Amino acid sequence: MKYLMTSALVATAVMVSTGASAAIDGAELLKSQCVACHAIAKPADSGLARLLARKGPDLQYAGSKFNREWLVSWLQNPTVIRPAGVMYTNAVKVGEPGSADVVDAAKLAPHPKLGAADAAAAADALMALTAEDLVSKGAFKGEPVNASMSSLLFNKLRGCASCHSAKPGVGGSSGPELSTAGDRLQPDYMVEYIRNPQKFDPHVWMPRLELTDADVQKLTGYLSTLKQGAGK
Ligand code: HEC
Ligand code: HEC
Repeated sequence: MKYLMTSALVATAVMVSTGASAAIDGAELLKSQCVACHAIAKPADSGLARLLARKGPDLQYAGSKFNREWLVSWLQNPTVIRPAGVMYTNAVKVGEPGSADVVDAAKLAPHPKLGAADAAAAADALMALTAEDLVSKGAFKGEPVNASMSSLLFNKLRGCASCHSAKPGVGGSSGPELSTAGDRLQPDYMVEYIRNPQKFDPHVWMPRLELTDADVQKLTGYLSTLKQGAGK
């Protein structure tokens, strides 16, 4: 015990002198700087009113959803994921019938930025928020995909592009962009979400599409290839 305490003290001293991140309590950081806009535990009330009123996406299953590397980098340099905000009806001015909806950018505030050490600590705390009841390991089979066939599925045959973009600026804006899905999201999460979005939130407006498992696997394989700068 004495030895352990001594080495812990030495470790702390080394971290302070090198300015390493491990001294920051990520869980505390989430509580003090993030919960005003994000759920980090399953909400007691999962009614429609909560979904409409929430200020940011749910993070209580973040550890089963995100890639840690993406979190660390995005928290330091956040980009727009939901082109029309977290609740698109609040930021979209619905156009005349037949014309496109217009996003009122003034209603979208930039995301708070973290320094490198805080971002790493917050990412660690988020990665600890796993939800095995929602996302089972191995849900994605990892079979090779036919790029043009699966792109056709996403963009045309299954209607995903009416709400999502697979290429920056192309596609719908009422769902999160998926043009960086391969950087951002774990494939097992994508499989489970595409299969049954209402498992994650009973009122979310992505429809539960009656897709075959083969289609879900192909769509996820395709989305996993979409990465920033990959030119897709
Ligand atoms: C003022 C409200 C607000 C605060 C405070 C805030 N966020 Fe956010 N956060 C948002 C909104 C809004 C989005 C959605 C951005 C988008 O989709 O473009 C978001 C998105 C995210 C995402 C991506 C989620 C996803 O599902 O795509 C992560 C991760 C995140 N925030 C982490 C944090 C962390 C960590 C903190 C605390 C250090 C924090 N946020 C503080 C409003 C906030
Ligand atoms: C009617 C609009 C709509 C359609 C059609 C739709 N989605 Fe979604 N999708 C959403 C919304 C809304 C969310 C979650 C919103 C949020 O987290 O803020 C979502 C979430 C997702 C996610 C999780 C992304 C994340 O960042 O958490 C994936 C993956 C996804 N959709 C894939 C698909 C695929 C594949 C299809 C076609 C088979 C599809 N979606 C069709 C609206 C749609």
